[in-house]
Amino acid sequence: MNLILLGPPGAGKGTQAKLIEDRFGLKQLSSGDMLRSAVEMQTPVGQKAKSYMDQGALVPDDIVVDVVFEHLAGFKGATGFILDGFPRTADQAAALDRWLSEHQSLIDHVIVIAVPDDLLVKRISGRFSCVNCGQVYNDYFKLPSVEGVCDNCGSKEFKRRKDDNPETVKHRLTVYHGDTAPLIGYYAGQGKVTSIDGNAPIEQVTGQIDALLGTTV
Ligand code: AP5
Repeated sequence: MNLILLGPPGAGKGTQAKLIEDRFGLKQLSSGDMLRSAVEMQTPVGQKAKSYMDQGALVPDDIVVDVVFEHLAGFKGATGFILDGFPRTADQAAALDRWLSEHQSLIDHVIVIAVPDDLLVKRISGRFSCVNCGQVYNDYFKLPSVEGVCDNCGSKEFKRRKDDNPETVKHRLTVYHGDTAPLIGYYAGQGKVTSIDGNAPIEQVTGQIDALLGTTV
């Protein structure tokens, strides 16, 4: 089973993708994580992507498509994948459809996590994650059970993303509404969209996804 998680920045795509990985054995493929890793390693792709990401702008389609397809090819034959943050433009969606058709694969569900814009700035400004395992936390909504210690791996080191500041978040939201939200209509036309309420506690959002996937896994 292959999924796309679609939603604005801070909607909870990464949080839910990790939970779906654990429960359903699918592989999370996050375009944001791929690009951040390229930036950190100062690869040629990372050097090109950095300034776009710092400003909250989209990285050009040709760069992102190459990076994501390289990872997709690596997971051929696995149980299935969860695309988190990709596609984000009409051209990326068209390129993905071509790739899927060439590889006799398909997307089973496009899950849209809907959250009002005013909540997203707070969510994103409170986000931090474990340096070691990437587990995501939040100052306001999800602190580690023991202060300063990662629930998942016990690490005591945490980090915050450079693009998680209120100005950049506002720009990311504008970009989402202009370039990415129209994909909901594109995938609705393929009969694949299920919209869930992301303005609920994390476990309740997971419950809505389980209700959708439970019967098809
Ligand atoms: P990317 O990394 O994809 O960021 P994003 O889409 O902006 O999404 P986020 O990671 O910010 O949010 P999320 O929905 O995963 O939320 P999370 O689960 O962390 O992209 C970053 C940049 O890379 C882009 O700006 C662009 O430059 C570039 N890029 C990436 N893909 C690209 C593409 N395809 N094309 C072009 N450029 C691309 O949750 C957020 C916080 O809220 C966390 O602290 C979490 O604990 C908390 N939280 C989650 N769910 C809940 C809940 N239900 N209730 C309360 N708190 C919650």
